[in-house]
Amino acid sequence: MKVPYFDLKAQYDGLRGEIAAALDRVCRDAAFILGEDVAKFEKEFATFCGVKHCVAVNSGTSALHLALLALGVKPGDEVITTPNTFMATAEAISYVGARPVFVDIDPASANIDPRGIEQSITGRTKAILPVHLYGRPADLDGILTIADRHNIPVVEDACQAHGARYGEKRVGGFGRAAAFSFYPGKNLGAYGEGGALTTDDGRIAEFVRSLRSHGETSRYSHEYIGYNYRMDGFQGAILRIKLKHLGRWTARRQEIAALYRKELAGARVVMLQDDARAESVYHLFVVYVANRDRVKTALEAHGVETAIHYPRPVHLQKAYASLGHGRGSFPNTELACDRVLSLPLFPEMTDEQAEYVARMLRRTVEETES
Ligand SMILES: Cc1ncc(COP(=O)(O)O)c(C=O)c1O
Repeated sequence: MKVPYFDLKAQYDGLRGEIAAALDRVCRDAAFILGEDVAKFEKEFATFCGVKHCVAVNSGTSALHLALLALGVKPGDEVITTPNTFMATAEAISYVGARPVFVDIDPASANIDPRGIEQSITGRTKAILPVHLYGRPADLDGILTIADRHNIPVVEDACQAHGARYGEKRVGGFGRAAAFSFYPGKNLGAYGEGGALTTDDGRIAEFVRSLRSHGETSRYSHEYIGYNYRMDGFQGAILRIKLKHLGRWTARRQEIAALYRKELAGARVVMLQDDARAESVYHLFVVYVANRDRVKTALEAHGVETAIHYPRPVHLQKAYASLGHGRGSFPNTELACDRVLSLPLFPEMTDEQAEYVARMLRRTVEETES
């Protein structure tokens, strides 16, 4: 059996007619940049997240950048975040001239450990930027308690967590602002680059709306030096269609995750446990294994494609060498990056495929250990 890591073509097969009609409409209206579909998507996504405002932009990275600008984070400031994330989280901090201050993860969750945050706060800390990694909400109770105590705003990196819940609420509405990515492989993926900022704060929304389009406040009236971070009309049209299916796709992701858990019970793999306060949307299903690279190669030989998120933590990337963090600085993150393996997970996957992946994983882990 062959199991791809993910399969966007299979998803497209079910949406083709609807998407073709929507793209035709955008062309007929010549609404290529922003436009009606993007405006409608903003409203629909805000409703979905349970927030007052959504501003659509051209990537999750841009949304993070604008969120930090909106909070007034400046050169010389510090922003606390996790090193167990995609590079973009830290890059956005660097874009505004601030310094990423890393706090190690809780190995049980793979997310930032709130217990490490408080001791990293200094007079220069201007924001806390937790990531809801793999679609799993970070420990928001712990983070928000500390943030409130020190009066420091929180920006959520929700780029992997569309629709994930913490308590009764969806992520994207816990911090002062949140960033989402619609990169094609995300749970809600565009057919190109895309992102959004969500917030309940009308002033932040207004500022960011202006910044995404060259700082314009009205046509050719530029109040700020802004950016070209606008969303394409095509992406708005596609995201509106896909948003209608997201609930069903997420439920199927959760089903596959439950199947993996059942089939891997007792195997020599470590799985992240679900937080009772939260509902993961399983952007990824990761396991931790010894001899990860050998397991990955062996699985490939059995027709199972896997991926690694992420092979090297941000603090050990050459780009951040100037921060001076060596190996051993954030041991939980480093161990996670050495062992993590992402299994195939996409809504169109069959139970038989998931069972096969679990069976092959169980076998290869035993073989590579003996
Ligand atoms: C955790 C995280 N943050 C930020 C980003 C950046 O999003 P984008 O690729 O849309 O710029 C991504 C997406 O890859 C991500 O996974």
